[in-house]
Amino acid sequence: MSPRFFPWKDYSGRISPLKLVVFVALFCPALWTLLCFFMGWLGARPFSEAIHQVGLWTIRLIFLALLVTPTRQILQWSRLLVVRRMIGVAAFAYALGHFSLYVADQAFDLVKVASEIALRIYLTIGFAALIGLAALAATSTDGMIKRMGSRNWMRLHRYIYLIAVLAVIHYCMQSKLDLWEPMIMAGLLVWLLGYRLLHRRFAVRQRLPLAWVAALGTVAVLVTAGGEATYFALAYHAPVMRVLSANWSFLLGVRPAVVVLGFAGVVTAAGAARAMPPLWAKRRTGFA
Ligand code: HEM
Repeated sequence: MSPRFFPWKDYSGRISPLKLVVFVALFCPALWTLLCFFMGWLGARPFSEAIHQVGLWTIRLIFLALLVTPTRQILQWSRLLVVRRMIGVAAFAYALGHFSLYVADQAFDLVKVASEIALRIYLTIGFAALIGLAALAATSTDGMIKRMGSRNWMRLHRYIYLIAVLAVIHYCMQSKLDLWEPMIMAGLLVWLLGYRLLHRRFAVRQRLPLAWVAALGTVAVLVTAGGEATYFALAYHAPVMRVLSANWSFLLGVRPAVVVLGFAGVVTAAGAARAMPPLWAKRRTGFA
């Protein structure tokens, strides 16, 4: 049988350890949620809790799929590309699971589901993101890529950025007070969108210079901190400076801007480490 039928094999038909690990890992959150559901560990409203868990994994997988290209370019790890499609398709499967759980929670009353989607703006936005993911998943087979031509295919698949924006809005709108993870997602989205724009303009041999990566990280951190402070000022009249200064204190836990700073710092440091010549090459030049 063609290796295409086995997601853990590469095109030569050999098992790819990277694809195998990612393939197995992608099932873990769904299996864990299923186990919790059947063991009664999801509290008094198991459907509602399952909707939340699966929704969270949907957005995390969308972001992971989006991170593949920058990580691959910054770390010069070209093999990483083989798992992008798998993660993207998994994001769609989780989105479908999230929607199906919502339908089940509404006792399969499809008229009610349709009217809720039409009336509640956060559900309309979530549904638009789901339809977008469905279109991308349906065109993710080798046959479709060939039929569409790689230019058209790439043009269509750029919509993943719009889907990520819709997903973050859907997430923020339903989160109300606890905006910790939505803010982190929003900060990462700024980084991802910025990376794409900067890469188009300033990449040298497919690599964005590290100075730009570091500057982008700084901007993403400032936008996250500013976004959080603005939200609390508008929604709860919290003093902006007090919310901003919470980023320096760990009394309220690690703030979203600090998490985005950690991410940006790790990416920049990893890129710098990867750009250094290997030690053995230095030694060889030393003896020459
Ligand atoms: C790509 C599409 C989607 C993504 C990425 C997504 C993501 C999420 C996330 C991250 C949450 C919050 C989880 C939490 O706070 O723990 C959530 C909640 C929710 N989503 Fe989605 N969602 C999507 C589509 C949909 C669709 C199509 C529907 C239904 C029409 C839907 C209905 C809900 C509901 C009902 C909640 C819980 C709201 C509440 O308890 O107040 N989502 N979603």
